[in-house]
This record gives sequence, C-alpha cells and structure tokens, in this order.
Amino acid sequence: KRPAGAPDEALAKPVSKVGIIGAGLMASQFALLFVRRLQVPVVITDLDQGRVDKAVAGIHGEIDKLADKGRVSTDEQQRLKALISGTVDKADFADCDWVIEAVFEELGVKQQVFREIEPHLSPEAVLATNTSGLSIEAMGSALQHPERLVGFHFFNPVAVMPLIEVVKTPTTDDATLATAMRVAKDLKKNAVITRDTPGFVVNRILAKLLGEAMHAVEQGTPFEDVVEAQRAFGFPMDPFVLLDLVGLKVGAHVLDTHHAAAPDRFFESKALHELAEAGILLEKDAKGEPKGIDK
Ligand code: CAA
Repeated sequence: KRPAGAPDEALAKPVSKVGIIGAGLMASQFALLFVRRLQVPVVITDLDQGRVDKAVAGIHGEIDKLADKGRVSTDEQQRLKALISGTVDKADFADCDWVIEAVFEELGVKQQVFREIEPHLSPEAVLATNTSGLSIEAMGSALQHPERLVGFHFFNPVAVMPLIEVVKTPTTDDATLATAMRVAKDLKKNAVITRDTPGFVVNRILAKLLGEAMHAVEQGTPFEDVVEAQRAFGFPMDPFVLLDLVGLKVGAHVLDTHHAAAPDRFFESKALHELAEAGILLEKDAKGEPKGIDK
C-alpha cells in the first residue's frame, strides 16, 4: 500500500551514486547505511580534508566491527570500504544523483552549502536535507531548482531507528518525493511524509518531552527522580541519555528552534546550554558524577 501522500513510485529516479555534505557523526552513520543498503558509491565532503579523512576512517572502522561480529563477510567488508570515499572537490559530486546534507543546523549555513554545490550537480540530481526542523522551503530559496529539494530526517542511532521523516515543501515536485520514498524503502526504513513545519512531527514531540524533563530539573526535581519516573513509565531511554545521544548542543538548538516558533508551548533550557558548553554528559550528571567529555 502506498504511504499517505506518496506519489506514484514509478516517478522515482534511480540512485547510482550518493553524495553526502558534512562529515559529522550523523552523516557518518547514514553514509554507512547508504553503502550497505544501496550498495552504490558514497562520496563525503566537508570543509577540510582532515574532517573528511576522519569520517572515512571512522566508517571503515564501523565496517570492520560489523565484519568482526560476522554481520558482513570479508568480501563485503572490502567491497563496502571501497565504495566509501572522501573529497573536498565539489566536482566529485557531478555524477551523484542523490545528495544529502547534514551540516551545522543553521539556515544560512545550509543555504550557503546548497548555493555552492548546485552548479556542480547534474540537472537530474535530487537534493535532500537531514535538518531536524529548520524550514526546508527557506533552504530551497537558495537553489535555482527548489523543486528538487526534500527533507530526509534520520534519527539517532541511525542503524536502529526505523523512521525517516520525508518532508515535502510547497515546491517539492513528485519525482523528488517519489525518489525520497524509494530511497527510504531501499534503506529498509519506514517513511512518513510530513509538512514543512518547525520540528516536523517527531521533534515537536521530543522537544516537548526533553524540554519538560530539563524544565523539571531546573525547577528543582532531582535528575534521578526524572530518570526513575521515565524509566518506570516505560520509555526506551531516559531523557538525559537521549540528550547525550542526540548531542547536547543539537538538543539545545532543537529546543531553541521550537521556543522561537512557539514560545507559549516550548521551553528553552539555559541549563542545557551551560552543560553543552561545559561538555558535561547528562547521564553521568544524573548519577551525580559529572564528567567532562570532548564533544
Ligand atoms: N548504534 C548502532 N546500533 C545500536 C546502537 C547504536 N548507537 N545502540 C543500540 N544499537 C543496536 C544494538 O546493537 C542492538 O542490535 P542487535 O539486536 O542487532 O544486537 C539493538 O540496537 C538493540 O540494542 P539494545 O538491546 O542494547 O538496546 P535497547 O533495546 O535499549 O534499544 C535503542 C536501543 C533502540 C536505541 C532504544 O534505547 C531507543 O529507542 N532509544 C530512543 C532513541 C530515540 O528516541 N532516538 C531519537 C533521537 S532524536 C534524533 O535523533 C533526531 C534529531 O533531530 C535530534
């Protein structure tokens, strides 16, 4: 059965090479997924060669771990590694037909990235953004062809979370949307089409949950009590472990975005900003043992 709002699958364009802009943790996680599930070349770019090399080495390490666990054969281990490459030359994106960005969550940065890459792309290439809630329509205003832009929002940890939010803007065309739905299916994820509103669907809910958890602490409820209440309620992960997983800076940014969009409904968290700046892991904090980390 076709998912609600999905166009005819026959409109989907083939994807024979994937381009990824941004070599951070999230991008590295989905680079591995693309290469495993689509079995096509995946090229990653970022501002400098150092970041790109680090990401490629990290993904190679994850492939080695999969081989050690017997989840991929030795042959596949070598093949997957060979399919991943890094570059700082945008010309290497010329033959990519699916390009997804996961750079810093700031509208201006993302617009700049799209403005710079578009002249290097084939006219048929589809562009996707992994933004967790910024306006995709506003991002598309930087493009010559905003109709080929779609939201494609992964969740942490990418390997196990089953959902992708496919975000349709008023300008996204049917071929682009159909391609995104096909890619999600090929990645063996469940895709839900959402509107281009702040936080789409899932982060609206998570921002409420995590914002309220931080707010409870800021109002004096001990960390441990919030953790225990959520654990006993049956959530798969306590809110502070989840914030650690998402990244405190990202989490704080998501809360800010929601607060800016609807100040009457969402809290920003001063404490979360402070902890993010200090590089404290909330999980340790909740156990009363604050521990500095490199974020
Ligand atoms: N990377 C890769 N695989 C992982 C993993 C990770 N970080 N964490 C767990 N797994 C795998 C395990 O290897 C295991 O796989 P197998 O069964 O094949 O061995 C499987 O997941 C289950 O692991 P566990 O039994 O150890 O753990 P669990 O039952 O507690 O489940 C979880 C782990 C699925 C992550 C669960 O805790 C959960 O659902 N947590 C909530 C995560 C969530 O809400 N994510 C959304 C964050 S918001 C976001 O990312 C978007 C944004 O825009 C900010």
